[in-house]
Order: sequence, then structure tokens, then C-alpha cells
Amino acid sequence: MPSLSVFGVQWGDEGKGKIIDRLAADADVVVRYQGGANAGHTMVVDGEKTVLHLVPCGVLHPGTKNVVANGVAIDPIQLLAEVDGLRERGVEVTGETLRVSSGAHLIFEHHRQMDRLSEHWLGDGRIGTTGRGIGPAYADKASRVGLRVGDLLDPNRCRTRLSAALAEKNATIERVHGAQPLDLDAELESAVALGDRLRPFVGDTGAEVRADYRAGKRILFEGAQGIMLDIDHGTYPFVTSSNTGTAGIPAGAGFPPGHIDRAIGIAKAYCTRVGEGPFPSELAGEVGEAIRAAGNEYGATTGRPRRCGWFDAVAVRYGLALNGADGWVMTNLDVLSGFDELSVATAYVVGGELTSEYPAHPPALDGCEVRYETRPGWEGDISGLRRYEDLPENARAYVEWVEELVGTPIVMLSIGPDREQVISRGL
Ligand code: IMP
Repeated sequence: MPSLSVFGVQWGDEGKGKIIDRLAADADVVVRYQGGANAGHTMVVDGEKTVLHLVPCGVLHPGTKNVVANGVAIDPIQLLAEVDGLRERGVEVTGETLRVSSGAHLIFEHHRQMDRLSEHWLGDGRIGTTGRGIGPAYADKASRVGLRVGDLLDPNRCRTRLSAALAEKNATIERVHGAQPLDLDAELESAVALGDRLRPFVGDTGAEVRADYRAGKRILFEGAQGIMLDIDHGTYPFVTSSNTGTAGIPAGAGFPPGHIDRAIGIAKAYCTRVGEGPFPSELAGEVGEAIRAAGNEYGATTGRPRRCGWFDAVAVRYGLALNGADGWVMTNLDVLSGFDELSVATAYVVGGELTSEYPAHPPALDGCEVRYETRPGWEGDISGLRRYEDLPENARAYVEWVEELVGTPIVMLSIGPDREQVISRGL
């Protein structure tokens, strides 16, 4: 594995944290390149649970370097709280093991406020964001008014840029939204203090990661969210504000596209989504409830109940193809034990036409008809199994059927939250 991209193929929450933590055992460097504290990556090691939002999932492996690259929107308060929390538990986090790009954009209180206030104005068209300020921070980046980590380290520059940004934001907060404006002096003081704490971690992470690659180090790129939430290729406008797959790496980490050696997708054995937007295979009734209960499907970041549905082979095939995946990991297979029958979405009827292609214009999915195929389920707890041949026959049949529908090999199965609960099929 000289360099490996690991990304979600559905609407996030595919179990990337666990798989990245596991694969990080064979990596020297783990790089986050997009998203922010909207992500919630959960890892369970020897029964102990860790939820990370910004620090990459290699951090539990001593000596692994963890990089928060330039494409991440960093909430410095959240990042430092995670560092403190990890250190309190005895996890080593130093300026060597955690590297933060000086070029990463920052999320401030006004971004979090604008996120919530704008959602309110969207009414029925609201996105259901995590409220972490992601959209407003990336909007400022594109509008060239954002502040970057490097700006925090220079108090004069920070003062000039934050004052200009806040003058405009405060006017909007107060006059458009009728909310309380922020105190510029307090925001400035807090920003400079945060910069001082971040200083030991900050550097040119793009140059560092490129040098690591040239030196033969093994690099793992950690995707957050999932392809169906990609700003360009997902279910726009019900998406996050970054490129969530392998395509996000070159820009988001300063890493040459041709040096990404392998790409592995992660998808659940069924589907979930938090927030609003199209979800063709959603199950509104009892079966959806049963999946939510069996999979404990509540958001790791917001605690919101996740919408649940059958595996969508159309969406996953699209996400894997878009990212040139060499293989994928099917997670949460254990959650499907005990269902009499399992269905999979194999085609949509869009505008009266039967198609197995994901539509380029997502509104076409509104009210689209979904075609399913069904197979018998299996009984019994499979979470303790470690060999593929020990799985119930119907579980193997389900895996192989889905693999065929999707057309990309399943290289690993995840059958429980713990790092050890996997069945390898080549990865
Ligand atoms: P935002 O990223 O907070 O702006 O939210 C935009 C959409 O992406 C909302 O539907 C969120 O629920 C969803 N979203 C963002 N991050 C995640 C994640 O890590 N897992 C699942 N959904 C997410």
C-alpha cells in the first residue's frame, strides 16, 4: 500500500472510522483532506470507544503521523478539545504525530451561527446540516474572505482579516437574521489564543506528505462523509460542501493525482442517511425501524436518528465507478441477521424509463420508483466469526449477490464495531 484512498460510498456513516483505524496499522501517515467536524468517526479498540471529528483515525496507533490537510475546514476549538481528550486518555499527540496544514480554512463562531440561521430561512428546502459551520466556511473560502490556520499564527494579519470578515458577517447576522452580533474583540482574543495552541502542529503538510511518499512511507487518505454527499457528484443541494471521494485528495491534500495508488470504498450492507434529501431505497415503516434498532443508527456527531433503507446497488455502483475503486468493504453485515428477507434496489424508474444508472440531475429522484430484488435472510449472531466460510450460507449468498450487482470485489466484511471484527476477503 504505498498510498491508499479510503472513502464512503453512501451518505456517510458507513463505518469508515473503524476500517481506517484498522488499516492504519499498516500505514505510516493518515491524511484527512476534506470536511470538518461534521464527520463523526467511531473506533472501538478492546471495548473502548473513541469518536473523532477532526483528528484522523490513525491516532490510536503509536508513531503513526496524522495529517489534517489544507482541504479540511478546521474548527480550532473542536480540534484542540479532541487533542486534550486524547491526551487525557494517555494517547500521545505531539507536533510530530499530528500535523495541521497552515493552508486549511478555519471555522469560527460566526460560521456556526450562519449555518443555523441560513437553514432556518430555507424552510422546507433546508438541508439538515450538522450545524458545524461547514457550508459557510467553505463559502468564505470560495469567496476568498476566509481565514486560514497560518493567519491565526500572525496576530496582526489575523486581526485585519477577522475584523473585515466579522464586520460583514455581523451586519448579516444582525440585519438579515435579526440575531445578536458577535463581539469582535472577544473573537479576536480567542482566535489569537487558539493560534498559539495550534502552533506546534502547523506546517506545510502537502510538502511533508509528498516527501513521505517519495521516501516510501505508506499513506492512507481518510475520506469523510460519502460520495452521495459530494458537492459535485452527490444529491445536490442536499450534500456537504466538499469533494468527499478520491477526487478531493489532490486539491485537499496537495498530493499528485497520479500518486494515488489504490482506492477502496466503504458501504454498509444496507443504507442510511441523516439530514434531508433523496434516499430512493428508504424504508419508512417497521423494517426501517428494525434496521435502526439493530444497527443503533443514530448520528455520531448530532445524535439524530438516521433514516434507514435497503442496500442501493445503483447508488453504490455509481460511487465506486466515479472513484475508480479497486474494491470495497461491506460493513454492518451483522446488523442484517434475523431478517426473513433482504431486498436490494437494483434499478430506478426515472421519468418513466427503467434505468440502472444514477441520474446526473438528482431532482429526478424525487418520487422515483425503485425496483427491488429479494433474497432470503439468515439467523444467528455472526459477529464472532472470522472466516468467510463460517458465515451462514444465506449470508454468503447475500454478499456474493450484492458484489455481482455492484460489479466491484468486496475485499473485507465488517461484522461488528470492534477493530478485530472483520472477515478479510483479500484486504
Ligand atoms: P453539513 O456537512 O453539516 O453542511 O451537512 C450537509 C449534509 O451532510 C447534511 O445532510 C448532513 O447530515 C450530512 N452530513 C455531513 N457530515 C456527515 C457525516 O459525517 N455523516 C453523515 N452525514 C453527514
